[in-house]
Amino acid sequence: MNIDGRPYRTIFPDADGVSVQVIDQTRLPFAFDLKRLATLDDAAVAIRTMIVRGAPLIGVTAAYGLALGLREDASTEGLERACATLAATRPTAINLRWALDRVAAIVRPLAQQERFARAFAEAGRIAEEDVASCRAIGAHGGRLIADIHERTGRPVTVLTHCNAGWLATVDWGTALAPIYDAHERGVPVHVLVDETRPRNQGAALTAFELNGHGVPHTVIADNAGGHLMQHGQVDLCIVGSDRTTAEGDVCNKIGTYLKALAARDTGVPFYAALPFSTIDWTLRDGVAEIPIEERDAREVTHLTGRTAEGGFATIEVVSPGSPVANPAFDVTPSRLVTGIITERGVCEASAEGLLGLYPERREAA
Ligand code: MRU
Repeated sequence: MNIDGRPYRTIFPDADGVSVQVIDQTRLPFAFDLKRLATLDDAAVAIRTMIVRGAPLIGVTAAYGLALGLREDASTEGLERACATLAATRPTAINLRWALDRVAAIVRPLAQQERFARAFAEAGRIAEEDVASCRAIGAHGGRLIADIHERTGRPVTVLTHCNAGWLATVDWGTALAPIYDAHERGVPVHVLVDETRPRNQGAALTAFELNGHGVPHTVIADNAGGHLMQHGQVDLCIVGSDRTTAEGDVCNKIGTYLKALAARDTGVPFYAALPFSTIDWTLRDGVAEIPIEERDAREVTHLTGRTAEGGFATIEVVSPGSPVANPAFDVTPSRLVTGIITERGVCEASAEGLLGLYPERREAA
C-alpha cells in the first residue's frame, strides 16, 4: 500500500540482503518509522512487543527471524533454539508456528553453510504467497460486498474488529482486502471501525489504513456495534482470524465473539476472512483447544497517545490497585459464522465447508 505516495509492505528485505525492515506499528498512526531487524533477538522482540502484529505478518516475521537466527548460528541446535524462541513470542496465532515449521523442514536437511540463504529465500516466498492470498481473499470477499450493493442500491456498511488490514499481513490484509477490492471497483462502502481496546488496533491502525486509502469510515467504541446492528446500520461484519479450527471455529481479537452474537441476534451476516496458513487442521473445538494469549495488565490500565504538543504520553485510566485481566483473543464458534472467505473462495464455517475448498486435507482429516 502507499504511504505519502510511496509503496510499502509491512516487511521487506533490507538492501544489505541479510536483514529486514519492518514498519513500527507501535508508533502508528502518529509516526511512520521503519525498524531494521538483523538478529533472531530483534525479530523475537518485534513480535513480542507488537512492533509487528497480525497473524500473517507474525508468521512472515518469524520465518525471517529464523533465517536471521541461522545467520548467527546455523547448527541444528541453533535452528531448534531459534524455533523455540520465536514460537514462544505469541501463542495464539497459528501462522507463526506454521511458518517456522515450513522453513525448518526445508533447511534441516541442508548443510549448515546453506541454511541462512535458503531460509531467507523461503521467508520471502512466504511473504509473496501471503500477498497473493490476500489479493484473492479481496476478490472473493469483494464480490459479497458488491452483491449487497446490487441488492440494496445503497452504500454497504461493513463492521470490522481490530486490524486485519495490510498492516496485519504483508500487504492488502484479510478482512479489509474485500473492502479495498470493493472500493477500488467503485462499490460504495462505509466501514464501521471498532476501536478495539485495550491496544486500539482499530482506532489506530485500521483507521490509519482506511484514511490512507480514502475509504469512508467511522470509528466506534467497542460497545456500539450491537446497538448499530439493532438499528439496521450494519449490512455485514467481516473480521480476520488468528487461528481457525478444522470445524470452522474462528479465534480472533478479544471482543469478536460479542460482535458475532449481536450479528446473529440481528440477522447481520458475519464473515471471517483468512488465508490457509491460519487454519489449524489439528484442532476441532476452538473454545476448548486454542491457547489464548494473556497479555500485560498495563495494556488495560494505561493508554498511550499523542499529546496536544505532538509528543507521546502514557496515562493511567484504571483505579490503582484493581486487579486486571487481559485475554487478547476469543473464539467465535462456527455456528455463529455465516461463512469463511479464503484465497480459494467462500465456504460454510464447517469441516465440510473447509474440506470443500481444501480437498487435499481430506486424507489427513
Ligand atoms: O494482537 P494482534 O494485533 O496481533 O491481533 C490481530 C488480530 O486479531 C487480527 O484480527 C488477526 O490477526 C487477523 S490479521 C489478518
